Amino acid sequence: MVDDSNWWREAVVYQVYVPSFADSDGDGIGDLRGIESKLDHVAALGVDAIWLTPFYPSPWADAGYDVSDYRDVDPRHGTLDDLRALLASAHQRGIRVIVDIVPNHCSDQHPWFQEALAAAPGTPARDRFIFRDGRGPDGSLPPADWRSKFGGGAWTRVADGQWYMHIFAAEQPDLNWDNPEVRADFEDTLRFWLDLGVDGFRVDVAHGLRKDLVEPLRDTHGLDTAPLNAPPEGGDHPFWDRDEVHEIYRSWRKIIDEYQPPRATVAEAGVSLSRLPRYIRPDELHQAFNFFYLRCAWDADSFRDVIDASLAGATSVGATTTWVLSNHDVIRHRSRYGLPAGTDTVAWLLSGGTSPEVDEPAARRRARAAALLTLALPGSAYVYQGEELGLPEVADLPLDRLRDPMWERTGHASKGRDGCRVPLPWTSDGPSFGFGPGGSWLPQPPDWGRYAAQAQQGVADSFLELYRAAIRLRRSFRGDERFAWLPVADESRVLAFRKGAGLVCVVNFADHPVALPPGEVLLTSDPLVDGQLPGDTAAWLRG
Ligand code: NOJ
Repeated sequence: MVDDSNWWREAVVYQVYVPSFADSDGDGIGDLRGIESKLDHVAALGVDAIWLTPFYPSPWADAGYDVSDYRDVDPRHGTLDDLRALLASAHQRGIRVIVDIVPNHCSDQHPWFQEALAAAPGTPARDRFIFRDGRGPDGSLPPADWRSKFGGGAWTRVADGQWYMHIFAAEQPDLNWDNPEVRADFEDTLRFWLDLGVDGFRVDVAHGLRKDLVEPLRDTHGLDTAPLNAPPEGGDHPFWDRDEVHEIYRSWRKIIDEYQPPRATVAEAGVSLSRLPRYIRPDELHQAFNFFYLRCAWDADSFRDVIDASLAGATSVGATTTWVLSNHDVIRHRSRYGLPAGTDTVAWLLSGGTSPEVDEPAARRRARAAALLTLALPGSAYVYQGEELGLPEVADLPLDRLRDPMWERTGHASKGRDGCRVPLPWTSDGPSFGFGPGGSWLPQPPDWGRYAAQAQQGVADSFLELYRAAIRLRRSFRGDERFAWLPVADESRVLAFRKGAGLVCVVNFADHPVALPPGEVLLTSDPLVDGQLPGDTAAWLRG
């Protein structure tokens, strides 16, 4: 049964990508006041919580995931008072607020890293990071072959000849979680935000904090390069998904559990499906993002397998699973589902979204059907800002406007993630389509206004009204997490299941209509045809 004491179990959490949600002051970058001004939109969607991506002081080498002060607000996003006001307004509307915590690395401008650079090798200031001498007679080779997720090596050399480690950009030095001072400082940071009234945390790179630092450092021989690829099962990769990482979350959980009303945490952990439940054991984090679901091709068998495995994994530790279709790191699913299976999406982005062309009608129908599938499943659903407007990926951003560090670090072999981060359109026209009174840090396409919230408000077949109706209806089926597949004639093309006692969801992946089971039809992603469910369509029934 879901109640206030375990509100996250079946919550709908709306991801606010702070730089791109709403801008109150016209500098082209989203801010906390902008978010507060749009809370009615969020409330009308009916979500339980919002997740705010980082708004902390940051030089923006990675759009805020390079934090230089963990306990303040960057002036470009507002002030701590703005955050207090946002929390109060959200709570008044019954919306909880979780914030991002970025413990794996900080900014190279963080006072600790500046201190480390000024200090000598072997000093306590250097021990907060991972500094090592290089290999080779003159130490000019990196200490290990570790690769950065953003391209290039994971080690950068400093003036005195030592190297420091960074899984991401060079401006994001990894912290040393073997160091008690690092641990204590993050515990203070958790308390700082909890005391301020946040309802929980999204934990960035939760699987990366502990490294095997026993000398000599072990090479990975390329096992660390593929983005989002899960590291090997054994827990013995030099820096991904090491068993020791769990002890950190056990100590965090003790802190979280001191607070009332209950707070919740969600892990961003790129690990295998079989290792993911370890992060959400009863004394660790509450939930973990489901990237396996996100990566499913538009195909009934793939979804069935991932749903089964996800439910089994979460249930085995008494947690609920999450369902995620999009976020600020991946190509928006509205576009993904319109590409042929197996498309190389890096190459597709490099082609400006032209090769291959997105099948627009299919993409639209599938994104709508996916919304009903996702919102019917037991567990919690994470909705990325703009998916409720049916936003596509902006694949043709001008190259000189790209901000993602991947673009430069890969030597222009990957455009990175800016195409899913373009500021939201709120109005059909006007400056930055209502995003703010000025421009927008990433250019919006000229036709962005047709996706505007204003243009969809009250329009029966719009994405916005579909999401609103589904999230409203979902509430009445909450509190019963049971799940059962229902028999269908064509299992390889149709999914049908019952959630709880009364919600039946049927999704037709075929290109022809199929019959629906008996029951009152509550909602469909597109109209039925002669009482049948057309291809790329989902229906909810009472039954
Ligand atoms: C995951 C975040 O979602 C992504 O945006 C960021 O670049 C990396 N972690 C590094 O913090």
